[in-house]
Amino acid sequence: MTQTNQRLVAALDLGSTRMLAAIGEVTGDPRNPGVRVLGVGSERSTAVRRGVVRDIVEATRGIERALKDAQLMAGVEVGTLYCGIAGEHVGGRLSHGVVSITGNEIRTADVARVNEVAANVAFSRDHELLHAVPQDYLVDQQAGITDPIGMSGSRLEAQVYLVTVLSSAVANLQRCIERAGFRVGEFVLEPLAGSLAVLTPDERELGCALVELGGGSTNVAVFQHGKICHTASLMFAGGHVTSDIVHGLQVPQQDAERLKEASGAAYEPLVSDAETIDLPSGPGQPPRPGSRRVLAHIMHMRLQEILELVGDELGRSGLRPRLGAGVVLSGGGALTPGIVELARDVLALPVRVAMPGPGLSGLTDRVASPRMTVPVGLLLYGAKQALQTGGFGAVARRSPAVDKVIGPVKKWLQDFF
Ligand SMILES: Nc1ncnc2c1ncn2[C@@H]1O[C@H](COP(=O)(O)OP(=O)(O)OP(=O)(O)O)[C@@H](O)[C@H]1O
Ligand SMILES: [Mg+2]
Repeated sequence: MTQTNQRLVAALDLGSTRMLAAIGEVTGDPRNPGVRVLGVGSERSTAVRRGVVRDIVEATRGIERALKDAQLMAGVEVGTLYCGIAGEHVGGRLSHGVVSITGNEIRTADVARVNEVAANVAFSRDHELLHAVPQDYLVDQQAGITDPIGMSGSRLEAQVYLVTVLSSAVANLQRCIERAGFRVGEFVLEPLAGSLAVLTPDERELGCALVELGGGSTNVAVFQHGKICHTASLMFAGGHVTSDIVHGLQVPQQDAERLKEASGAAYEPLVSDAETIDLPSGPGQPPRPGSRRVLAHIMHMRLQEILELVGDELGRSGLRPRLGAGVVLSGGGALTPGIVELARDVLALPVRVAMPGPGLSGLTDRVASPRMTVPVGLLLYGAKQALQTGGFGAVARRSPAVDKVIGPVKKWLQDFF
């Protein structure tokens, strides 16, 4: 295997149904970061469920395999990874800080100070800060200031969106990754990473919700004025759709999964009564005919319920009226035919399906799926970090530069977006 150059970036998405690894080479510049996709690896695994490790040995094995495949495809070795994090243990809240200004203009140090004050809040003992995203500054009570440096004023206030995670959940993910022989450069909130892969700058600016329909959870994140301002994880997702098919059609789990992916539909009116599907019978028996419309009905009902929960979450956030750019659907569930029609019906907003592509070159066909939103976003996040700081995240295993990477958690996203 060839030794790496220093412009590599590597990503790991530990999903509830499979683990995805991706390796790329950083291209572009800090304003327009890009990635040449070199390799991807995918390993079916249920060892991490909704962001929490259920089985350390299995999770370690899954990570090893996914990365082995990605490294083989890429022809390079990596040592440090950007790892996605999500799940119900992730919390988000807006915090407010205020400081007085003594000089005659606001300096960088004052902004850093007010950010620190805003982030210096008590979390519950078992949680820690993952990201702090400054939203808005107020100078002498005048709001709507994005960059106060150089302004005059005596009072500086900051609104900062804080994302926290359960410390033990992060520690266990890190342990599995290290046991597999890799290091975590940084944990990144999955929708934050995903937004870099699939949302346009206009969507992020105008207001938009990124809804990731995964296997174990449905993640909702709202972006406005270019920044993430709300996140929530709902515990109903693709796994519930599969269970409903198991019960509704009386088929084993594996067949339900296969039927869902091969013949499923999310919007019943799109399927005619005449369409048939093959349902498994007993051993040695030929398949029995079933109705695709019934399959669509089962999926429609459950996906409608999930999307209603998404709508409730958007309502609770108070941000629903500000979603000028509507909703973008990602994750495996976004592959279901008819999901856009259903989501438009339920949410009464413009809806489209996410597709990684912008900023990418190389093996783009391997990542052109809404399911690849998080790993691609992590690569772009890493590329942006590397281009902004001059350090590269996925240096070779034995390179001394490994030690220079940023700490795993607590990342200020001051100038990131
Ligand atoms: N073609 C398809 N049609 C419908 N559903 C699909 C299709 N492909 C995958 N899915 C569903 O998508 C889900 C998996 O999505 P995804 O890979 O985004 O989840 P995950 O990352 O493993 O889980 P999570 O993010 O919830 O931890 C599964 O429930 C799977 O059945
Ligand atoms: Mg996922």
